Amino acid sequence: MESKLTGTAALVTGASSGIGAATARQLAEHGAAVALVARRQDRLAALAGEIDKADGTALVVPADITDHTQAEAAVQQAVDRFGRLDILVNNAGVMLLGPVVGADVEQWERMIATNVQGLLYTTRAALPHLLQAAEQGPRQVADIVNISSIAGRVAWNGYGVYNLTKFGVNGFTESLRQEVTQRHVRVGVLEPGGVATELGSHNRPEIRNEMIDPFYEQTEVLAPEDIADGVAYMVTRPRHTAIGELWIMPTDQA
Ligand SMILES: NC(=O)c1ccc[n+]([C@@H]2O[C@H](COP(=O)([O-])OP(=O)(O)OC[C@H]3O[C@@H](n4cnc5c(N)ncnc54)[C@H](OP(=O)(O)O)[C@@H]3O)[C@@H](O)[C@H]2O)c1
Repeated sequence: MESKLTGTAALVTGASSGIGAATARQLAEHGAAVALVARRQDRLAALAGEIDKADGTALVVPADITDHTQAEAAVQQAVDRFGRLDILVNNAGVMLLGPVVGADVEQWERMIATNVQGLLYTTRAALPHLLQAAEQGPRQVADIVNISSIAGRVAWNGYGVYNLTKFGVNGFTESLRQEVTQRHVRVGVLEPGGVATELGSHNRPEIRNEMIDPFYEQTEVLAPEDIADGVAYMVTRPRHTAIGELWIMPTDQA
């Protein structure tokens, strides 16, 4: 069946769980061929099997995006296989919380490397292909959606370096939009509120007990599919429409 993204190719980072997996599924349902990028190959292979079964097209691309050669190779693999790249969803991310006093610098480095550097490496590698798709492709438009966070707009005690990375992603998105919008590459940021995923599970037990579990117990959190709906909405707009920023949160936080 002809759908809005039929004939396009997309790359989703962090497609092995949560928002990334839900987004990859939805883009495939809309007709895009999807490159699934993350480190856990078994998870990606299971998702690719699911997408294939539903008559979609998926490519498993195991990569650690904090390594720029792996991020570049991931983009190249997608372009080699699909012959093009129309949509990049920069979704891979890590959230490790805690006070600055006595903080673990390795956790800071991991967050900055994934949420900021990884996003930059993937974007840099993908841009020439996206520009080409916008110029010569059937849709005459290409898309980058950066998954930031409500933590890119609001700061909280204990979120310091996560806030820093997401505020950074929001600023970078705005700047890149100005650089390439005239060339019909739309660059937008999507800022979810609380979503039920594995994101908090990598924190130390005391942080999970004090900062994460109470939040999930008190809030009616979103499903990853709610955010995937937002990504699909952004990338299926007609060529003359760009969504610069989309903020999606549970109603009791609104
Ligand atoms: N959940 C929320 O409440 C929430 C709210 C606002 C924003 N967000 C943002 O949404 C995005 C997705 O998070 P999620 O909630 O879906 O969490 P998640 O389930 O933990 O997914 C994170 C994804 O990032 C991937 N990833 C992490 N490090 C990577 C690396 N070095 N290279 C490649 N992939 C890497 C993981 O795959 P591998 O481990 O297999 O590599 C995984 O697929 C993140 O940017 C997060 O900040 C989430």
